[in-house]
Amino acid sequence: MTAQLRAGVMGWPVKHSLSPVLHGHWLKRYGIDGSYEAFPVKPEELPDAIARLRDEGFRGTNLTVPHKEAAMALVDRVDATARRIGAVNTLVLGDDGSLDATNTDAYGLVENIRDHAPEPLETLFGGRPAVILGAGGAARAAVVGLADLGIGDIRVVNRTLSRAAALADIAGPDCTLRAVGWDAREAALADAGLLVNTTTLGMEGQPLLDLDLATLPLDAVVNDIVYAPLETGLLAAARGHGNPSVDGLGMLLHQARAGFRAWFGVDPVVDDDLRDAVLGARG
Ligand code: ATR
Repeated sequence: MTAQLRAGVMGWPVKHSLSPVLHGHWLKRYGIDGSYEAFPVKPEELPDAIARLRDEGFRGTNLTVPHKEAAMALVDRVDATARRIGAVNTLVLGDDGSLDATNTDAYGLVENIRDHAPEPLETLFGGRPAVILGAGGAARAAVVGLADLGIGDIRVVNRTLSRAAALADIAGPDCTLRAVGWDAREAALADAGLLVNTTTLGMEGQPLLDLDLATLPLDAVVNDIVYAPLETGLLAAARGHGNPSVDGLGMLLHQARAGFRAWFGVDPVVDDDLRDAVLGARG
């Protein structure tokens, strides 16, 4: 008898994580004898928790706040994408017991936009700039994902300008990244092909994002990585303005695919059934 395939997510706190629901949905759908659980792990417990993965028969794990940076020093290999982002969210245990780490957030962000944008993404933006609001970890993933997609001009708008400027190094040689101050956020929208909010503004319990979309071209795609609420003020404003809009839930769903594939051996599908299962669990 083969042992059950095990994976999970480590975070602190972790009880609100939707990952067990989405991986559980896929395990059932594909008839896989596997498990995916949430593990509350305090920062000081992370080295032990990672070291125990092998002994406890895990195929790997996801990592969420606050472990995404600290885990980089606790694995054998960190791939190039994760190094650029400066954080990891997926660990995969090899047959030899070594641990590989990657970051699937850039992939998740791009695939979510691809799923909902009106044209093939590679041609959609036609040389127009992308505007990213925010300069934290999610913005780093957005810069890497969009630069690797071929967007050659990215404007990072952030309240703390120095944090935006610090992202220039990770965009790569074929992408020009400009840091823009928060006061100039509306001017930065002129001629943009894509707007992505990676700040916490608009999230439940956080202040609203104060942004007038009048300067944004009508065909620009608007994506909010916030998914609680599902329709943020930004997405409602985009809809009102006539722009195509993409909510943030799909990023969570798509970023999970690589881990599932590596641990359980099936490339899972992101579809409405999965989305409904995750939304149902959110209540
Ligand atoms: P994450 O790593 O999840 O992206 P983060 O590093 O806390 O989170 O980043 C949150 C982002 O929201 C930052 O860009 C932050 O701006 P600063 O870098 O200036 O802190 C932005 N943000 C949070 N509250 C904000 C506010 N009231 N006005 C403007 N930007 C805000």
